[in-house]
Amino acid sequence: MENHQGEHTANLLLPCLTLKEMDGVALVSFDDRDAKVNTLNSKLIPQFEEVLDYVEKSKTVEALVLISGKKDCFVAGADITELQGADQEGAKNLSMSGQKLFSRMEKLRQPVVAAIDGSCLGGGLELALACDYRLASSSAKTVLGLPEVLLGLLPGAGGTQRLSKIVGLENALKMMLTGMNVRPEKAKKWGLIDYLVFADGLEDKALKVARALAKKQLTPSRAKKTSVMSVLEKTNAGKKFILQKALQQAEKKTRGLYPAPKAIIDVLSYTIEHPEKGYEKESELFAQLSQTPQCHGLISLYFGQSELKKNRYGPVEKSAKNIAVLGAGLMGAGIGLVSLQKKFHVRLRDISQKQLASAKKYIWKSFDRKIKRKSMTRFESQKMLSGLFTQTDLQHFNRCDVVIEAVFEDLELKHKVLKEIEEIESDKIIFASNTSAIPISDIAKVSKRPERVIGMHYFSPVEKMPLLEIIVTEKTSEEVARTAVDIGLRQGKTVIVVKDGPGFYTTRILAPFMDEAAIVALEGLDFYTLDDAMKDFGYPVGPIALIDEVGVDVALHVSETLSKSLGERVNGGETKILSELISKGSKGRKSGKGFFVYDQSPSSWYEKIPGLKKKSVKKPINPEVLSFITQNGKKSVKPVDLEDVQKRLSYRMINEAAYCLQEGILQQAVDG
Ligand code: NAI
Repeated sequence: MENHQGEHTANLLLPCLTLKEMDGVALVSFDDRDAKVNTLNSKLIPQFEEVLDYVEKSKTVEALVLISGKKDCFVAGADITELQGADQEGAKNLSMSGQKLFSRMEKLRQPVVAAIDGSCLGGGLELALACDYRLASSSAKTVLGLPEVLLGLLPGAGGTQRLSKIVGLENALKMMLTGMNVRPEKAKKWGLIDYLVFADGLEDKALKVARALAKKQLTPSRAKKTSVMSVLEKTNAGKKFILQKALQQAEKKTRGLYPAPKAIIDVLSYTIEHPEKGYEKESELFAQLSQTPQCHGLISLYFGQSELKKNRYGPVEKSAKNIAVLGAGLMGAGIGLVSLQKKFHVRLRDISQKQLASAKKYIWKSFDRKIKRKSMTRFESQKMLSGLFTQTDLQHFNRCDVVIEAVFEDLELKHKVLKEIEEIESDKIIFASNTSAIPISDIAKVSKRPERVIGMHYFSPVEKMPLLEIIVTEKTSEEVARTAVDIGLRQGKTVIVVKDGPGFYTTRILAPFMDEAAIVALEGLDFYTLDDAMKDFGYPVGPIALIDEVGVDVALHVSETLSKSLGERVNGGETKILSELISKGSKGRKSGKGFFVYDQSPSSWYEKIPGLKKKSVKKPINPEVLSFITQNGKKSVKPVDLEDVQKRLSYRMINEAAYCLQEGILQQAVDG
């Protein structure tokens, strides 16, 4: 329908959808006016059915284009709140209603084109997979993926059935088992999308493609698959072989703790034998998964994390742009890197030129890897790097909004750098410390402006670890806290805010856990069994290996510092072993030995062959620690019950977390 000015008016105007007919093409635009993003929910589904009614009856519509009226979001996924509280039957119905809708669309006589700009995830991608042709914008905000596995689920609206036919079994498994986000360039390479276009030209191109498909002048271009796996995928026996391998890998990675990856593989395996019943199996296992404690736990974590993506102090008046980092070591380089990636200008200062050079190299290498993986263009990388300044002095620091110190963990040194910064004229600078355990109020003691001192505790490696713990003292001003949270969120972090105190929250709950591990070790349980037991419980790293990674000296320092206020709770057994190790020069991985001995011999020539991975062998236990345990350890009387060990360690961590909530270290339970 055209008005007198030649503009097209809507033929269907629904709360979440509009349909405009444009010379034989129905342009269907998703735009839920009551929500920030489009989701597939019980409000949208009947409206989409109305669209299908219209198109099925229409004599003029020759093709459809699905597009979004929202910036940076096509359809962000199914609405998970509707799954919460649903019983197995209800969850099955939800899955089946999505399947039914998409297969009805798939059966339309008219070709359907998905024009994707922004997030196209979960149910959003399942919708796009049921289209005949997919175009995507090359915008940095465009991502495609099936993240259901991260919620303990499987794609329940036909995703398990359609994806492998489009991208091949190998890539489909990669996407479904990891929940990875696929950027447009890779999506094009895999055949997940047929055409890549600049965001501005998306609608025009989609309309042209739709007309060409309607006139049969165009067929969807599928990517050619040439890998060994793609040859294997041609036969059922080959497919089964791939699935069997995937199952072995998934079970090894998840230690059998998560049912969703296995369920995804089960659906795919079942479909090979019973292709006509694949959708039914998908709904059935989707519904079963929705009732598992893993799914409930992961969904609750998801909502918790989403909550923490908001600034609890409200919006900032002026966004910080310039970040200075003191200390270009492991942490300083990482903080610089994540800041540059999010378009901050970064001044990196160290007293050592060598450290500055290493930090720059670290940042370049990380950008290079992204360029190779096609998640960043060279131009973007150069633009970001042009915002990096490295220096050994404090020139231009007065232009910075915040200084984040990441110098050695030494209170005197932290005082020295704080005073140096406060001598700079600007009294607007925020001084943030990345200390792992020194109370922020102790650092702020020498400050002229304690209201501008705060803790910003990142974790290593900064670019991989999502958490940022912000620590406020009694004197930290709300405006400073608001800005620090804003910076953390813009750096892409999940931000928790905690009250100052020994070990803050994260270090504090780890200390009793490590302490109990040392007590168990002194009781004679071997380190491999202990670490494995905790990994079987769900921890990503065992406690003994963790002490070696963190550094035996760092663990001892933390334990001694915290024991001043928490006493036995953090220092019941650990320090004896740790001091002994340190006296022998065993400081953990960094010194070549700690609880375990690390191989520091230069790699053999054959280990340098690209793609050849070193066979993982168990690290030998350090004999020094064994002889200490033999002399000082208490032999356990009963045979060790591993479930008991898991509970002893975990409950001490949980107990400390409860103390933190009770004492107000945690502002709200969700932070914990
Ligand atoms: P690092 O030893 O790798 O780096 C410290 C850097 O500070 C060195 O490059 C050193 O040259 C530099 N430095 C010393 N004095 C300086 C000064 N006056 N001005 C500027 N730079 C100076 O140490 P790392 O591991 O990066 O730790 C830094 C801080 O972050 C410590 O407080 C540590 O407790 C904390 N932290 C460390 C974590 C880790 O996993 N390594 C995790 C979280 C916090």
